[in-house]
Amino acid sequence: MSVAGINVMVDETRARMGQADIQAGQGPLLSVRGVSAYYGSIRALKNVDIDVHEGEIVALIGANGAGKSTLMMTIFGQPQAREGTITFAGQDITKLPTHEIARLNLAQSPEGRRIFSRMTVRENLQMGAAVNGGKHFAEDLERMCTLFPRLRERIDQRGGTMSGGEQQMLAIARALMSRPRLLMLDEPSLGLAPLVVKQIFSAVRDLNAREGLTVFIVEQNAYHALKLAHRGYVMVTGAVTMSGTGQALLDDPQVKAAYLEGGSH
Ligand SMILES: Nc1ncnc2c1ncn2[C@@H]1O[C@H](COP(=O)(O)OP(=O)(O)OP(=O)(O)O)[C@@H](O)[C@H]1O
Ligand SMILES: [Mg+2]
Repeated sequence: MSVAGINVMVDETRARMGQADIQAGQGPLLSVRGVSAYYGSIRALKNVDIDVHEGEIVALIGANGAGKSTLMMTIFGQPQAREGTITFAGQDITKLPTHEIARLNLAQSPEGRRIFSRMTVRENLQMGAAVNGGKHFAEDLERMCTLFPRLRERIDQRGGTMSGGEQQMLAIARALMSRPRLLMLDEPSLGLAPLVVKQIFSAVRDLNAREGLTVFIVEQNAYHALKLAHRGYVMVTGAVTMSGTGQALLDDPQVKAAYLEGGSH
């Protein structure tokens, strides 16, 4: 059965991807264990288990309303997990308030590119750098302008007047300004033209390959996300139903039927 095949792939991948962690005697960088979260009495996450190892790109795919953004927000403490445990870099963050989680070395670019629309590109990036005290600002500004040359051209333009793709680049660059160990992206491809999606995904791939940046990406665009990711998880109505390497999930008939037909590639 395909699900079993997928699980075997997971074990193999874990063995490979997690080797450095295991040798160093460390667990995953991010670990979500048995997490449930609620909106009032509605259980939006059901016993979710997800691991992200140092150096990996991990994708979470699922339909509208599956609970993907809720998981990302729960990792950031809003809503808090009512059951289960979330650890980051060995620290239990399950009950930490959001502002304390934001001070750790994980950064998110939330759904809907929430940039500061009245601030310029440079000011938005300054806000991102402020999380770690604004150290390395000039150097990191240069890095972001090299990663996304469009930002250099628009450096003094107000965020709110930029195009959707430019705003997405800015949202990701702002998150990166804090030099996170883990970058969490919620739907970076939403509403963007295929060429812009390609640019953004290739920037993420480069950061991972060159700098070893660990990435957890939430996407409805399953094809691109699974192509990019080392491993992926599928979420259906708040529960993880499948996991495996990006390629194994791309090849899986159930994933194909549910998320790839009429493909977005
Ligand atoms: N603040 C909230 N209050 C009550 N219910 C909520 C709230 N936010 C989300 N939900 C519900 O929780 C469920 C999961 O929503 P969530 O936004 O996590 O889905 P998603 O997988 O990110 O979907 P999409 O792909 O559309 O972004 C949905 O049924 C949604 O209506
Ligand atoms: Mg969402």
